[in-house]
Amino acid sequence: MIIKKVQNKVEGSELAAETFISLSNLHPLKPVGLATGETMAGVYQQLAIKDFKPKFDNAFALDEYAGLEKINPNSYYFELYEKFSKLLGWNGRLHVPGQDEYAGDGVTQFEVAIEKLGPLSVQLLGLGTNGHIAFNEPGSALNSITREVELNEETRVANSRFFESVNQVPTRAITQGLSTIAKAQALLLLAFGESKLQALKKAMKNPDESSPLAAIKDHKNLILITDLDI
Ligand code: GLP
Repeated sequence: MIIKKVQNKVEGSELAAETFISLSNLHPLKPVGLATGETMAGVYQQLAIKDFKPKFDNAFALDEYAGLEKINPNSYYFELYEKFSKLLGWNGRLHVPGQDEYAGDGVTQFEVAIEKLGPLSVQLLGLGTNGHIAFNEPGSALNSITREVELNEETRVANSRFFESVNQVPTRAITQGLSTIAKAQALLLLAFGESKLQALKKAMKNPDESSPLAAIKDHKNLILITDLDI
């Protein structure tokens, strides 16, 4: 793992955007992997500031809430469309698990599509305060594939800041598995702020299923950008 220590989130988002651009340009025809959340919004803003014009035609999302339609502003499809596609003026295809042909029984086709169009040149990754990667909660099998999962209460409470109340946060989600994520050629993991410190430290100390990061810790091309001392 390469650790790049930055002073703060702004500096980290700028470095993440530069790194994302170079890694995606190494294999310009290969898809990328996108993520959601506040951390990623900062990176996408930096991509826009740099006037990044993607060469890739396909992007795969990490995860999606179960039962939210694409037009629901809380769906990850909507978030990626607004904060990535629209912001950058990118007309490529967003593949989101649980949406379009990947809904219901089609979820297995998501894995097939990654195999067919991939490997992803770079997968962006955030970190949940409880250590989740995408929606792989602690305890997820390290060899898991794309599937529907139940969300932890801690995750629902943490993500309720984007909803009117915690009751509106879906209880289930569809997520790339840990082994799916590990197939990307490069992983760009971002963790800013004290709330992520315990999860990061735990992964370093206990590389087992209690810490989803364990599945990717030894990936041959994992870059961690953080403002934390770990
Ligand atoms: C959500 C997403 C994760 C993301 C996490 C952290 O739960 N499913 O993929 O890593 O939020 O988000 P934030 O960057 O807002 O802290």
